[in-house]
Amino acid sequence: MQVTVYSCRDFDEKVYFEKYAKELGITLVTCPDKPGMENIKLAEGSECVDILTTPLTRELVEALAAHGVRYITTRTIGYDHIDLEACKEFGIAVGNAPYGPNGVADYAVMLLLMSIRKAGQIMQRSNIQDYTLKGLLGRELKDMTVGIIGTGRIGKTVIQNLSGFGCKMIAYDKYENEDVKKYATYVSLEEIWEQADVITLHTPQTEETYHLINRDTIAKMKDGVILINTARGPLVEADALLEALESGKIGAAGLDVVENEFELYYYDRKNDVLNNRELALLRSYPNVVVTHHMAFYTDNYVETVVADSLKSCVCFMQGQDNPWQVS
Ligand code: NAI
Repeated sequence: MQVTVYSCRDFDEKVYFEKYAKELGITLVTCPDKPGMENIKLAEGSECVDILTTPLTRELVEALAAHGVRYITTRTIGYDHIDLEACKEFGIAVGNAPYGPNGVADYAVMLLLMSIRKAGQIMQRSNIQDYTLKGLLGRELKDMTVGIIGTGRIGKTVIQNLSGFGCKMIAYDKYENEDVKKYATYVSLEEIWEQADVITLHTPQTEETYHLINRDTIAKMKDGVILINTARGPLVEADALLEALESGKIGAAGLDVVENEFELYYYDRKNDVLNNRELALLRSYPNVVVTHHMAFYTDNYVETVVADSLKSCVCFMQGQDNPWQVS
């Protein structure tokens, strides 16, 4: 059985691809580039192809089908980059590869701790041998109330992670989760705005959550509130965040995601003049930690998505029950 792997990263994925292909008896064709008409020939002889978050248009789906492909697996949770209608039309099944919530949950707690202890400023000073204390006074989590918005897989794990720190936890979700109630109290969004010293976001991006953090909601928050976003950039209105940071209404922020990060993150853009002014400003503020949407990026994540994407090809080809198949 042969699988063509597109967007295969040499520096982290390849070692796992080789390991699991050997274990599962799969012959691999690997390509560092995303699938396109120029490299579609590599799918010849493979009934399964393995991709990342690159758009799989109708044209490409049709071309893959013409090369004999019957199953597409994506090494991601989301699969909205694949034209599912076209897949159905051309008789191609689709699978995804969900990974565990711990990587993102750990990262959210790291950003939270960095923000309350001013770790960004401490490291900047240390780099220039400025060993003074003034301005670096931190706070202790046990004295704080953390508001968690979204208590699904990641939000719930954040709550479990934080349960050892002794902080008060209040949570909001459209649907309450019994496990969460062991550690946190469900409240209304209004109560989160009013009571939380730290707010951490863990909902998907939907029409409802778009700009959930805006001028009106920020105005209701405590002065000096800390905002952590490891969910999706558009949950926070960038201009409103900048204003609130400049006025001190928001005291610090830890942001793994920002608005308009697409085409920016995961590329080396150090010689470019970027057209994302909000990001430039955020990066310039000493009380903001910005990272490039990488909360998920752990060894466990890489191994899981590589292994599961190949296992799902085996299930599909052998007609077994395929827990990863989504369409
Ligand atoms: P999940 O689907 O398990 O949980 C999402 C929760 O949000 C659910 O409990 C749902 O009821 C709740 N929710 C939905 N709409 C809501 C609303 N309007 N108000 C309140 N709650 C609402 O999702 P999961 O896996 O926990 O992911 C959470 C977020 O983390 C997503 O935005 C996802 O895109 C993001 N993420 C970020 C990564 C990173 O590397 N920074 C990696 C993986 C996910």
